[in-house]
Amino acid sequence: MTTPAYLDNAATSFPKPPGVARAVASFLDTSAGNPGRGGHRLAVAASRAVEGARDAVAQLLGADPERTLLGPGCTFWLNTLLQGLLEPGDRVVCSQLEHNAVMRPLRWLEAQRGVIVHSVAAAHPWGVPTPAELRAAVVLAPTKLVVITHASNVTGAVLPVAAITRAVAPVPVIVDAAQSAGSVPIDFAELGVAALACSGHKGLLGPPGVGVLLLDDQLTPPPLLHGGTGSRSESELMPSLLPDALEAGTPNSPGYAGLEASCAWLEERGVAAIQAHENQLLAIAAQGLAGLPDVELIGFDPQQPHTGTLSFRVQGVDNGELALWLDRRHGIQLRPGLHCAPAAHRRLGSFPAGTLRAGFGPFNTVAHAQGLVAAVASFPKRTQAQA
Ligand code: ALA
Repeated sequence: MTTPAYLDNAATSFPKPPGVARAVASFLDTSAGNPGRGGHRLAVAASRAVEGARDAVAQLLGADPERTLLGPGCTFWLNTLLQGLLEPGDRVVCSQLEHNAVMRPLRWLEAQRGVIVHSVAAAHPWGVPTPAELRAAVVLAPTKLVVITHASNVTGAVLPVAAITRAVAPVPVIVDAAQSAGSVPIDFAELGVAALACSGHKGLLGPPGVGVLLLDDQLTPPPLLHGGTGSRSESELMPSLLPDALEAGTPNSPGYAGLEASCAWLEERGVAAIQAHENQLLAIAAQGLAGLPDVELIGFDPQQPHTGTLSFRVQGVDNGELALWLDRRHGIQLRPGLHCAPAAHRRLGSFPAGTLRAGFGPFNTVAHAQGLVAAVASFPKRTQAQA
C-alpha cells in the first residue's frame, strides 16, 4: 500500500484551503440574506460578501471588478458567450483540444444556427496549436470569434494564449480557463483576450457551483438567463449595466464567500509557486511512469508549459479497471476515460478508451507522485503481462 492520494484536481480540487469551508458556513450562519434585494442588514451583509468575492477574484486574475461576473460555473459562462455572440452563418475557430463545455455549444450552434466551426489542425504531436496556425485559420474566411482552451484538461498543456490573441487580432478571443485559473498565473489584461471564463472549484480552490467571467471593455454578451436582479425592478427587461445585466436570479452567495477565502489563500501562496510545485510532481510522475515499459504518456511535452495534469495509459490494461484498483487498493483517486473531451482524445489518438489522468493540486506531495508510479508498477495484471 502506497500513500493514499486524491489526484483528480483537474476534475475538482480537494482538499480546499483552510478557511474555505469556514467562510461558507459563516456566510450561512451570519450573512445569508439575498444580495441586492432589500436594504436590511442581512441583504447588505450578503451583498458585501458577493462584492468581496468579485474583488478578490478580479484581483487574482488581473481583471476589472466592474467587468468580473460571478455565476454557476465555467460552462454557464461559455454558453453565455457562445450562444449570445454567434449568429446564423458566423464562423468560429477553435483548437482540437477543446472540452465539451466548448464543443457541445459549438456543435449545437452548428446544427441549430448554421454556425461554421473550424477546428485548427495543429502540427504539434499533441495538438497544441501555434499562433501562426490560428492566424492562418482566421484569414481563411471572415471569422467572428476564436474560442480556445488555456490549458488542456486531458494533457495539461498550456496554450500560448497571449501570442495567439496578438496573431488573430482583430478577431476577438474567448478563453476557456477552467484548467488554468489558479494553477497558472493569469493577468487578464496582459492576455489581451475579449473574455475569459473559468471555474471556481478547480484551480481557484473554491466550492463547486461557482464560475467566473472576465470581460474586456469592448465585449458584453447578451444574457443567457433573464430574471430578477434586485435592480430596475420597474422594468420587465434586463438592466443593461453590469454585473446585473448578466447575473439574473439569486446567486450562490455561500459559494462566493468560499471563493473569496480560496482567492485570499492563493494570493498568499502565489499561483506561480503553486504551478512550480505541481510541475515538480508532474515531472516525478512523468519520469517514473515513462520508465515502465508498457506505460505510454499521452500529450506530455516537456518543452511545453503545463498545469499539474498528466495523462497516460498502460498497454493491454483497461483504464477503468486500473483506476478502480488504484482507488480500492491504494486510495489513489484519478479519473479514467474521455474526461468530457472526445475531440481532444480523438486528436491524441486515445479515443474511445481515453486515458488515465492524474491531476496534481497544491496539497499533493512528492510521496503522492512517487506512490502513483509505484502503485501502477505493482498492478497485478500489468505484472502478469510483463512476466
Ligand atoms: N472538466 C472536468 C474534468 O476535466 C470535470 O474532469
